Amino acid sequence: MSNLCIVGLQWGDEGKGKIVDTLSAGFDVVARYQGGSNAGHTVVADGRKFVLHLIPSGILRANCLCVIGNGVVIDPVALLQEIEELRGHGIAVGENLAISDRAHVVFPYHKEMDRLQEESGGSGKIGTTQRGIGPCYTDKAARVGIRVGDLMDRATLERKLRVNVAQKNRLFEALYGRAPMSFDPMLAQYLEYAERMRPHVKDTVDLLTQAYAEGKRILFEGAQGVMLDIDVGTYPYISSSNAGAGGAASGTGLPPKAVGRVLGITKAYCTRVGQGPFPTELTDALGDQLRQRGGEYGATTGRPRRCGWFDAVALRYAAAVSGADEMVLTKLDVLTGIEKIGVGVGYRVGGRTLERFPAGVDMLEGCTPVCREFAGWTEDISACRSFGELPRTAREYVETLEKLVGVRIGSISVGNAREAMVRR
Ligand code: IMP
Repeated sequence: MSNLCIVGLQWGDEGKGKIVDTLSAGFDVVARYQGGSNAGHTVVADGRKFVLHLIPSGILRANCLCVIGNGVVIDPVALLQEIEELRGHGIAVGENLAISDRAHVVFPYHKEMDRLQEESGGSGKIGTTQRGIGPCYTDKAARVGIRVGDLMDRATLERKLRVNVAQKNRLFEALYGRAPMSFDPMLAQYLEYAERMRPHVKDTVDLLTQAYAEGKRILFEGAQGVMLDIDVGTYPYISSSNAGAGGAASGTGLPPKAVGRVLGITKAYCTRVGQGPFPTELTDALGDQLRQRGGEYGATTGRPRRCGWFDAVALRYAAAVSGADEMVLTKLDVLTGIEKIGVGVGYRVGGRTLERFPAGVDMLEGCTPVCREFAGWTEDISACRSFGELPRTAREYVETLEKLVGVRIGSISVGNAREAMVRR
């Protein structure tokens, strides 16, 4: 079996956690390559629900090495809390978790900056998760960030943190009139976190390079989705990392050819949290129905997700830029009982119909979606396990999506539980 990269093809929340959890049984290593505690992967295993933010979903499988790669930004508070919660559920977290010494660390000033930028942003508001992700990646790009490796060395941490706190305090005061943050308690706190993280901290680039050389099977786990990718997503309404398949190599230190096949995950409809264009959004009762039935509330922030129809134009683009070899369609069961299901197939803008996804958000924001309607079904599909068991109209819906996107749908999720999958 070749290595595999799992990537969300929409604006996140496609149900990747469940798929990684299911597939991880066949892999030796699961490596997370970008994002931070802004992600929320919900997995239901053995009737228990887990929400993972930083730790790869493979942690629920014994014998699976979970790696938090160099492309991830790590908030030690969230990480250590997650480790404790998993242990509280009897899940072993020890040698099976490796944290990259090259990953950048989220500090309280990143979260504060995120909050202040959002609150003062006016029309520029992104609707971030306020987990400090953007400001942490900003520091990484500005070459002033503090990495996990720095955290392991008291003198380095002290030196770098002192400079950062002083700089951030100047910014806080000048831009927002905010009182300064104290350096000493922050240093003490992070030194304590460092000791708790130390057993897991490794040179994961070396670890993964060796695993690859030994032919170990590696699953790359993306967080968020292609449309939130900093380069190919709906900029500036994006998260600040390469959430697409392109990030898998740079975010783990493995060569692009190690990434292997790409499995794109998409919901049978579409959701988005935060601001930004969403051409097929439903702001009516149908949107509310999707939200209620699909439990569409943010796994990290609890915010209600915006809901709408499957957008084939966006999907075709996302599948192409991530090189999806196959797709998994999730939450098909949520559409049960909807008489007419819509699918976005074009965007009307300035008297033209676009069938290709544009680069600029202004064009998307001003467009009207062109939707095709499909007959729904009323039968409960949650117990279906083979394609033939699905109602005819559900099969037709799936086949139409495949044709519109141009990528095969290999499996379909019809419920929360691990076993609620239709395989083809
Ligand atoms: P940030 O990642 O917190 O900076 O947020 C930037 C944008 O990405 C906001 O619209 C968030 O709602 C969105 N976002 C970040 N992480 C996720 C996720 O895991 N699922 C869905 N949306 C996300």
